[in-house]
Amino acid sequence: MSNRIIVGFSYNIDINNLVFELFLKEIYLYFFIQLIIMDIKGSTNIVGLIGHPVEHSFSPPMHNAAFDALGMDYTYVAFDVDPNNLKSAVDGAKSLNVRGFNVTIPHKIEVMRFLDEIDEVARLIGAVNTIDFKNMKGYNTDGIGAVKAIEEVTSIKNKNVVVAGAGGASRAISFYIAKYGADTLTILNRNVEKATSLSEDVSASNLIDDVKSDSISKINDYLNDADILIDTTPVGMHPNINDEPIAKSDDMHEDLAVFDAVYNPNETVLLKEAINAGAKPVYGINMLLYQGAESFKIWTGREAPVDVMETALRDVLNL
Ligand code: ATR
Repeated sequence: MSNRIIVGFSYNIDINNLVFELFLKEIYLYFFIQLIIMDIKGSTNIVGLIGHPVEHSFSPPMHNAAFDALGMDYTYVAFDVDPNNLKSAVDGAKSLNVRGFNVTIPHKIEVMRFLDEIDEVARLIGAVNTIDFKNMKGYNTDGIGAVKAIEEVTSIKNKNVVVAGAGGASRAISFYIAKYGADTLTILNRNVEKATSLSEDVSASNLIDDVKSDSISKINDYLNDADILIDTTPVGMHPNINDEPIAKSDDMHEDLAVFDAVYNPNETVLLKEAINAGAKPVYGINMLLYQGAESFKIWTGREAPVDVMETALRDVLNL
């Protein structure tokens, strides 16, 4: 049945379709509410993310997919916490029996003041991204995420590693590269002083003997002898996807593993160069994945279902 309605101007509405669509919406809403009621119970354990902002985080879908797949009575939510409220957020979460937090910008350093214990490498890094409320202990799984992603294609032990960048990501990754037994670590940066300062900190940890620093403009001098190149700079990150890469395929060799911490786009200009050179690309998405898997294990004591988490992550990233 078609009905002609005149409100200043005229158009056609199919009443049958309209009623049917409203009916479908009601049904969807009903099942959506049922799903929430069924999933979240009085016994449900809460884990989550604190940061500022948090709304674009990929962690909730990734962790909730993992809990669903294993039939675990957990849910993961994101909390936007103003820096002025960080202490009360941590204290409140402890009182509310929250099981674990991920911590993101800008709280990764400041939050350590409110914890009872800090994991040894996280203390060296000087930042945590995971809190286990069982013992109020902080960890840094960002660096572990990168190392696990790289170890999918090559072992780090006894290798020559070049890290580009000397910011927060480089710091987290560099200490774990040292801990995983690299032979040499060379940190390259535009601002060489920052690279030198980081290399001195890593050296002082006694996790590795041979740590150097230099200007990123000299990268080609180091790639011949390198086994692993790690790019922690934002070069090539959306929307600057056509940036000049930090290294070209002509300067790479086939045995080199090339990891780019940028995950948007998935295949960065640097990884394209690596593929052209026949080198082994390691995608930034895998760092996100493995840091999440490691946090999951810290909170629950169980191995994370990495495949399920990867599917959820690819889904939200449209990959
Ligand atoms: P993150 O926490 O992601 O590591 P950061 O702490 O801001 O971010 O660090 C960014 C790093 O990328 C820095 O080492 C920066 O170099 P400078 O210290 O010289 O600024 C590096 N970086 C940023 N833009 C870059 C570019 N266009 N080329 C090369 N390095 C760049």
